Amino acid sequence: MSTDPIVRVEHEHQEISPAWAAELLAELPAGPVLELCGAGKIGLAAVAGTARRLVCVALTPGAVTCTETNARASRLAPAVDIRLGRIREVLRPDERFALVIAAPPWVAGAETSRVPEDPLLAIDGGVDGLAVARDCLAAIDAHLDRGGAALLHLGSVEQVAALMSLGSGSLRCLEVRRFEGGAVAHLARTDEDVPTAW
Ligand SMILES: C[S@@+](CC[C@H](N)C(=O)[O-])C[C@H]1O[C@@H](n2cnc3c(N)ncnc32)[C@H](O)[C@@H]1O
Repeated sequence: MSTDPIVRVEHEHQEISPAWAAELLAELPAGPVLELCGAGKIGLAAVAGTARRLVCVALTPGAVTCTETNARASRLAPAVDIRLGRIREVLRPDERFALVIAAPPWVAGAETSRVPEDPLLAIDGGVDGLAVARDCLAAIDAHLDRGGAALLHLGSVEQVAALMSLGSGSLRCLEVRRFEGGAVAHLARTDEDVPTAW
């Protein structure tokens, strides 16, 4: 039987919560963590105090520098592998991760001028706002280990539903938490027999 994912409303303005990532990670199988479209902040908070490695994919040299700074500040630099490039180009086909964290840009291209204070690269999600999110979803599908989990930050619960309806491979959405700043979806594999509709 399939049911809708749980939708919870959180009264904070934030992206993926480090606490939620750490809470999930404590129950996940052994293996590294992957952070896409971030500067390592959530991934570093999640792997702190564990023996897990963190792989961060950074699109620009500036994002690499920022991630390096965050890794040094957290004293976790030896456990962090920062890769410069496009998501699909910097992950080996055989790599698997226990937890994937992704915060892609999600504003539709035609709407980006409404937030002129943000760098275009950080917010521009292409024509439908989901261009980079689709790459993230494909990477999660290809690289999430069995029994693993992913947290994906988008603009709204409706956007999460739209993304999943475009084709989510073997992934299903278990829960969405709605924040003032958007929505975070908890994804897992379908072949793990979790009852959800998306
Ligand atoms: C919404 S911001 C993420 C903010 C991040 N969570 C933080 O706290 O700094 C989106 C990020 O995605 C990156 N990005 C944009 N297009 C990308 C692409 N095609 N592949 C990978 N990353 C991309 C941007 O450089 C930006 O850092």
